[in-house]
Amino acid sequence: MKSVTVLGIETSCDETAAAVLRLENGRATILSETVRSQIEEHTPYGGVVPEIAARAHAEVADRVVEATLEESGLTLAGIDAVAATSGPGLIGGVMVGMMTGKAMALASGKPFIPVNHLEGHALSPRLAEECPFPYLLLLVSGGHCQFIEVGGLGDYKRLGSTIDDAAGEAFDKLAKLLGLGFPGGPAVERSAEGGDAKRYKLPRPLLGRPGLDMSFAGLKTAAARIIEASDLSEQDVADLCASYQAAIADCLSARADRALSGFSAGGDKKRLVVAGGVAANGAIRTALGTVADSHEAKLIAPPLRHCTDNAAMIALAGAERLACGRVPENAMTFAARPRWPLDEVRAQSDPAYGGGKRGAKA
Ligand code: KG4
Ligand code: ZN
Repeated sequence: MKSVTVLGIETSCDETAAAVLRLENGRATILSETVRSQIEEHTPYGGVVPEIAARAHAEVADRVVEATLEESGLTLAGIDAVAATSGPGLIGGVMVGMMTGKAMALASGKPFIPVNHLEGHALSPRLAEECPFPYLLLLVSGGHCQFIEVGGLGDYKRLGSTIDDAAGEAFDKLAKLLGLGFPGGPAVERSAEGGDAKRYKLPRPLLGRPGLDMSFAGLKTAAARIIEASDLSEQDVADLCASYQAAIADCLSARADRALSGFSAGGDKKRLVVAGGVAANGAIRTALGTVADSHEAKLIAPPLRHCTDNAAMIALAGAERLACGRVPENAMTFAARPRWPLDEVRAQSDPAYGGGKRGAKA
């Protein structure tokens, strides 16, 4: 495979990110990478405010991209293509990144590659280590929670999905109820460190039911009842966070166990990949590792900075597409898609699941 160098841009939620990546003989090298978080802008509101996100992306996108390109030691002349997240996500932010990418591609005469943000997460393990297709993917973030069979580039089969909240959303909601700050996942994980995970009996929705669907909304309701019922001490809060995190880890690992049982692809060694922001959670990684071991499967989790939103994964998706000539012909007129499921066929035949504020969960 020839070497391709791609500039990637990511603006679908609350991170303005850019990266320059080279793909050579299937191996990715990140030449430069920037992630500019908007956490400070959204913290007063306890969550991502779409209008604030869009404006903040618009204010810094060109500078972030310029600085990243400069750091790579290349100019646009040395880049083979510009890739940008073109959905799913908060439409205002997606538009900013996509239009920035299109403008740069147009000005430099390079191809533009619209990238599905979820494809970026799906390929993210390939940034750091060898992770050949096929593999079983648990994509678990603030807007998405699904099991996907990744057969190859562009070959995604949805096996199961949350029927209500995404796991990251469940963490964020608990943190909001407890006033722990935003984003919730890391705050809940920190508090849980000093807590007793067996203290509170919380539900494990859908556990033991057939299929691979998941549900987390009931968990939040159960936690809300506990919080309303009494004044919680710091230790109570830690115990609740630990119990809540354990419930999410149990739900995900029980589903992963079932998914691995039914997953025969992968040759000599099955691979379970966990990607998306929630994959940064230590307790969840440990629980999934135990399940993978019991199936003699390998658990692959990207380094923490590539679990949460980043542009290296977008550049990689663009580079993989460019390397095998799978860039859409109408890329320059591609319209941003607030909803863009990875498995379009299943999403059309079985559109049972609603979309969260950050996009379709299915
Ligand atoms: O992938 P991501 O950066 O953005 C989306 O595409 O949603 O994921 C963000 C989500 C947030 O809900 C955040 O609370 C959660 O990932 N998250 C975590 C941790 N770090 C981030 N959840 C649990 N434990 C963590 N350490
Ligand atoms: Zn994401």
